[in-house]
Amino acid sequence: MSPFLLTRTLPEDVTDAALRADVRQGLTRTPKTLPPKWFYDAHGSELFELITQLPEYYPTRAEREILLARSGEIAAATGARTLIELGSGSSDKTRHLIDALTALHTYVPVDVSESALTGAGRALLAERPGLDVHALIADFTAGLTLPDTPGPRLLAFLGGTIGNLPPAERAVFLASVRALLAPGDVLLLGTDLVKDERVLVRAYDDAAGVTAAFNKNVLAVVNRELGADFDAGAFDHVALWDAGQEWIEMRLRARRALTVKIPALDLAVDFTAGEELRTEVSAKFRQDGVRAELSAAELELTHWWTDDEGRFALSLSVAR
Ligand code: SAH
Ligand code: AVI
Repeated sequence: MSPFLLTRTLPEDVTDAALRADVRQGLTRTPKTLPPKWFYDAHGSELFELITQLPEYYPTRAEREILLARSGEIAAATGARTLIELGSGSSDKTRHLIDALTALHTYVPVDVSESALTGAGRALLAERPGLDVHALIADFTAGLTLPDTPGPRLLAFLGGTIGNLPPAERAVFLASVRALLAPGDVLLLGTDLVKDERVLVRAYDDAAGVTAAFNKNVLAVVNRELGADFDAGAFDHVALWDAGQEWIEMRLRARRALTVKIPALDLAVDFTAGEELRTEVSAKFRQDGVRAELSAAELELTHWWTDDEGRFALSLSVAR
């Protein structure tokens, strides 16, 4: 087998149909919403990488700290021959895990962003010439079919991306992950933790405005793909902490009343002045909540590690 294989389980027209359905549904309801997976075209994936380097955005550094300290223990606990990673992005932190997994044969990065997968694949090929990389363009919420690769398998979902799914979708997602795990397979999950509101809001409203540009990128995606005429300058970036739900919410607030035309959907969408479009939730977790959500999906938490400041956690769990 070639050391780098890219498989598309999302045909272009399926992606297009999914975007149309999400935009029509999300912009014709009150309050208006769009799912965060549409942030990640090539430019959005680049903006996310810039976010990971911002002084205010601590999750990437905190998770890297845990991976550097614990990858040896993770490798010993799993003995994985296949590493599957959902929402792998640049796979940058994953290298620490790959280095520690001495029995590793195949790495399967899964992402909706083709540019992120090819960029990560190129870097890995240069650095780990012996590793088989089978990249999968796929939506991890849409029922994954994984390639047939040797077990045991370690399924990693890093970055806190699970928090971008609202609770009901998380439950469905975790049940689908559980269904992928055979005896001996392990789930490695990254979860950002509840902390001081000011620290959280700063992480999603940075001084340089990179997160604002990332948030507005979803409008550029809808403009390009569906011929819409969103004026990004007519919207303000909003990041707020919902203490009841324990999640950060990102929104785009219309500065004035406006109408957006979306020709591909034959749709005109009215915004009143100050009206907000919700683009992302980013839930923050506590250990008990993570354990309970895993348990509801018949997964049993076996290990829990945090960074020194207790900002972020990595957990291991197995099928019950
Ligand atoms: N795991 C990396 C990247 C996190 S950014 C890290 O920790 O830094 C979130 C990644 O998930 C992006 O690369 C995005 O393209 C991908 N993603 C978001 N929603 C997705 C979905 N529904 N299916 C597959 N990939 C998705
Ligand atoms: C990918 N995900 C975990 C990021 C987060 O922190 O929720 C996405 C992001 N949104 C704004 N900044 C980063």
